[in-house]
This record gives sequence, C-alpha cells and structure tokens, in this order.
Amino acid sequence: MTPLPDIAAHEAWFEAWTAGYLTDDEQDNRYIELKRNHTMRVLENARRIVGTLDMPEHVARTALLAALYHDVGRFPQYAQYRTFSDQRSVNHGILGCKTLRRLGVLNGGSRNEAALCESRSTQANVLASVAMHNRFRVPSGISSALRAVTDVVRDSDKIDIFPVMIATFTRDGSENDVVTLHLEEKEGAWSPGILESLRERRLASYKDMRYVNDFKLLLGSWVFELNYAESRLMLRERGLVEALLATWPEHPDVVAMKDVVREALMRD
Ligand SMILES: [Fe+2]
Repeated sequence: MTPLPDIAAHEAWFEAWTAGYLTDDEQDNRYIELKRNHTMRVLENARRIVGTLDMPEHVARTALLAALYHDVGRFPQYAQYRTFSDQRSVNHGILGCKTLRRLGVLNGGSRNEAALCESRSTQANVLASVAMHNRFRVPSGISSALRAVTDVVRDSDKIDIFPVMIATFTRDGSENDVVTLHLEEKEGAWSPGILESLRERRLASYKDMRYVNDFKLLLGSWVFELNYAESRLMLRERGLVEALLATWPEHPDVVAMKDVVREALMRD
C-alpha cells in the first residue's frame, strides 16, 4: 500500500488563493464555494484511490497535488466569463495549467516557500495532468506515471460530479444554469447519439448534448470509463448511480440502458 504523502502546505495555499475570489456577491460566492468544496472532495477521493494502489511515493504525491489543483482554472474562468461552460469561454484545464505556471506555486510561489517546492518531474506531471484532466480522452504515448496520475484525477473528479449533478437534476433547474451548462430543459427529450453511446458501452460526448436529459444519460456513460475498482466501489457505497438512474426519462429505450450501466458498475 502507498503511504499518503503530506501536501498540507499546498492545501493551505489553495485555500488562501481561492478565498481571494470571494466577493460581496452572494450568488458568485456560491459558485466559488461550489468549486472549492468540489476540490476538497476530489482530493479525498484521490486519497482513497491512491491508498489502494501500489505506487512509488513521488507518483502518489503527484496524484494528490494534481487532484488538489485540477480545477484551479475554474476560478479565473468564472471571474472573467461568469460561466463554467468551456464551450462558452475557455478550456479550464489549459487555463488551470497556465495559472499554476504563472503563479509558480509548484516552485515555491510568490513567497518562495520551501514547502511548496516540488521536483521538476512532479511539477511537469502535475501541470500536464491538470491540462488533460477534462479532455475527452487521455492521449496515448504519455509516461505510465503521468497516465496513472491523470487516471486518479479523472476518476476522483467524476465521482464527485455525480452528487453535484444529481442535486441539480432533482431541483428546479432554472437558477442552476451555470452548472447544467445552459442545456434545454425539455421533458422526455433526449438526443439519440447519447443513447447510442450507452448502448455501445462507450463514453458519450458533451458535443452531442442538447437537453438536460442528455447530461443525465451522459453521466451514466462515465461508469464505463472509471479506471480503478475503488472508484466503482465509492459510487456503489454512495448509491450515486441508482440516484442518477432514477432521474432518467421513463421511455423503454432509456430504461433498457439502466442495466448496462449497473453491470459496468459491478466490475471489480
Ligand atoms: Fe475540471
């Protein structure tokens, strides 16, 4: 088992830096807090996954740092564009990578703190992983360490998006427009391309989404993409997939896909 590395100095930096994005606008602060809390839960998920793996300590450290910093781009994204839709603004993974580089946080930060100084390979892998965490696919040909780190972050992130989205789907969606990425709320409507992905047991694409129901179905397809058994276990323990499936439209074509998702969730 991998012992869990101590990244407390980085956690303190993140906490202080993101606090700088809080304003006197209540609604804006809600979105900022949403992303801050999301980050801390993603970090906890990453700790659980890393704890079940047999990784060299520096890789485990890189994975936790990448989990902590994966959504750094969300803060300047929201401050500048007032949305979390990358399509309507910029790619938040790339923005996060640029932001970390600009602030030099993995290299001591503005006050040159020793506790924030990471090795060159850790710095490079955290930056690459932050940049790639939200890509549709992780490119082939990357090192096995970077692959493992990025897989940990992507699983940890996906697991946490389930409760956030389920809460959004089960409330009246109007004021959550920023979270549901400006999709159309039309009862009983979904896009055939999304259902097709489920039938073929592959990840559905954001580009095929038009309705809020498409997002509910797309989340189901994430179960096929989870990399670690611990990730599936966390989803099962938290009852998140059943909660998601309960929000799907009642149509038989859709209902038939529920067991496809359940079966993927049971793999270990
Ligand atoms: Fe993200």
